[in-house]
Amino acid sequence: MKKWYAVIGDPITHSLSPFMHEAWFDEHEIDAAYLPIHVEPSQLEKSFEAMKTLGISGFNITLPHKRSIVPLLGKLEKSAMQMNAVNTVSFDGAEYSGLNTDGDGFVRSLLVHDVDKTAKVLLIGAGGAARGIAYALKRAGFMDITITNRTYRRAEELATEIQSSAITLTESEERLVEFEVLVQTTSVGLTTSEALPISLNGVKAGTLVADIIYTPLETPFLKKAAEKNCVTLNGVGMFVYQGAIAFEQWTGVQPNTEKMIQLITEKLG
Ligand code: ATR
Repeated sequence: MKKWYAVIGDPITHSLSPFMHEAWFDEHEIDAAYLPIHVEPSQLEKSFEAMKTLGISGFNITLPHKRSIVPLLGKLEKSAMQMNAVNTVSFDGAEYSGLNTDGDGFVRSLLVHDVDKTAKVLLIGAGGAARGIAYALKRAGFMDITITNRTYRRAEELATEIQSSAITLTESEERLVEFEVLVQTTSVGLTTSEALPISLNGVKAGTLVADIIYTPLETPFLKKAAEKNCVTLNGVGMFVYQGAIAFEQWTGVQPNTEKMIQLITEKLG
């Protein structure tokens, strides 16, 4: 019988998840469909009940529901508990459980670039996205993580949770040469503003500089990093790998991520 998957969010029209999952279902000849569903915050509980009644096999959750879905789920995997946010729900035959594949998706995108787990990593930002990545880096065995954030207290709190260290934005600019990997998780760069979360004047050539944003493909941060001869990594990899981990959870099949990164980059280019 055909299986049914979805992504819920508000807004939802620009989501690339239906394109990605439908392409993978086709490629692996899996009899399933994946729909974008517009769900307003006040309708979340009712919509989830409706999807359960109709027997949905799994769904992704995007803004603004990642946290509000948590109390509605019977079971949470460790990744979702640590972040108190869910981006993937799957039905195991008895109940719907929530996991969060965002952080692990980012870590996979780093690992395919042969980043060593002993690398000195500077995580810029301490919001929801940074939280997922910090925990995932820690779970994956990264040993040297430093967190910096505009509001220093939030950097300190997250660093305490994952047993790493925190520094101020100014300190991070002064000590930039020490880091081998920079991970930009703030919302700076999402708008047309040319502002950077930190200055890259002191960055070492060859440093891997990652931004989790993928619209635009090249943020002002990555543009500056490229001018400084750094290796740059945009957010398409994280997006595709978070989807791949969800797909694996639902189907047991590992989808073709390389080709999908290429297709999505072309679509956004
Ligand atoms: P998300 O879930 O996308 O991570 P968030 O939880 O609102 O969103 O976090 C946004 C992150 O971007 C925070 O680290 C925020 O810094 P503060 O904790 O100081 O608010 C950071 N951020 C947003 N605007 C920024 C700016 N103009 N300069 C530097 N950091 C900024």
